[in-house]
Amino acid sequence: MPAIHFLNEHTSLDVLPGTNLRKAALKSGIHLYAPLHRVFHLNLNLGPLKFPCGSDVIEVVDGKGINARTHTEEDVISGRWLMKRKVSPNHRLACQVVVNGDVTVKTRPKLEVDPRATKNRVAFLGVVGGFLLMMLAVLALIGLDLVKKL
Ligand code: FES
Repeated sequence: MPAIHFLNEHTSLDVLPGTNLRKAALKSGIHLYAPLHRVFHLNLNLGPLKFPCGSDVIEVVDGKGINARTHTEEDVISGRWLMKRKVSPNHRLACQVVVNGDVTVKTRPKLEVDPRATKNRVAFLGVVGGFLLMMLAVLALIGLDLVKKL
């Protein structure tokens, strides 16, 4: 039977193969979320569009008995909106980890902000936002012109 060792909590759980790490942790009263995210975390599932909250990040210290991380998972961990974070290969989303062998994890690892990627993201969103505002202004002018002609 696989075991999950939680380093910060000094706790081990014996679980059945194929167990979801997040569910096992929460069932045993182990907090995966920072205090604010315990209240405000939201996973949106809109058919093919999925917006996971990304707030249950763990660090896998040891263990090969888990599924591999996907590119989408890495993307969510690094941050999809304004701020980008540095992601190590050991960072995972607890809700995406399927346990099939012994694993040792740290809950709520400290994630560093990636200043360069964040700066690029802010610049990109600034350009896109500026373009959208300009298009909105053009549409407003066209609308006003049409109103004058009526
Ligand atoms: S529970 Fe939100 S990403 Fe895992």
